[in-house]
Amino acid sequence: MKKQFTRSAIILHWIIAVSTIFLFVSSWWMLALPYNEFRVFPFQLHKNVGLTLALLLSLLLYVRLQHKPDPIQSPAYTQWMHKLASFTHIALYVLIFVGCISGFMSSSFSGWGTTIWWAIELSEWGWEDRELNELFSTVHLWTCWALLAVIILHVAGAVYHAFRRDGVVDRMLHL
Ligand code: HEM
Ligand code: HEM
Repeated sequence: MKKQFTRSAIILHWIIAVSTIFLFVSSWWMLALPYNEFRVFPFQLHKNVGLTLALLLSLLLYVRLQHKPDPIQSPAYTQWMHKLASFTHIALYVLIFVGCISGFMSSSFSGWGTTIWWAIELSEWGWEDRELNELFSTVHLWTCWALLAVIILHVAGAVYHAFRRDGVVDRMLHL
């Protein structure tokens, strides 16, 4: 029998997609706010969604390695398409993880604490350090731009397959 993406992989994929888009939108919103107490909530929300995303992506990787779907079999799906798709998927995993780690590191040297979903105070192992904060902020910013470029490539690929109706997009739609 043909092995497809499992139901949990599909659900995780869509939660991850929505969370990632939210992180981009929320970052531009939170950074545009004036320096006052109203900045605290959007920053906490961004950090919490980001940290949860790292957990969800680890889960997707685990589920995906446990139940490997069959590769796409179609004469129209050429060797270079397989290579481009693999490169894009690996880049998505790597860039999301690096984005989460750099954001966490930047936040750890900002002097501001993080409360996990307003319930658990995360231990503050870092300290207030302007230089380290700026270093990790720069890594965070550039990783996120690279991630945005790969997401555009990924979605463009999905749109291309949707127009061809070759069943590739259905792999991530049918539960
Ligand atoms: C921010 C947005 C998105 C992110 C971060 C994302 C992330 C990912 C990742 C990490 C994979 C690899 C899964 C694996 O094989 O382990 C994947 C696969 C896939 N994604 Fe997305 N995705 C996004 C948006 C979308 C959208 C909008 C669509 C289409 C409408 C889409 C369709 C697919 C499909 C069809 C696959 C499976 C390709 C295959 O069959 O091998 N994704 N996505
Ligand atoms: C893949 C996941 C993430 C994405 C796509 C993302 C996206 C972004 C973007 C686009 C910015 C604006 C960058 C700028 O203009 O300087 C930003 C800023 C920020 N993000 Fe994230 N973020 C992610 C994960 C995280 C995580 C996990 C944390 C912390 C736990 C975090 C903390 C911050 C902080 C504190 C800022 C403010 C400026 C800075 O220090 O860089 N982010 N994020």
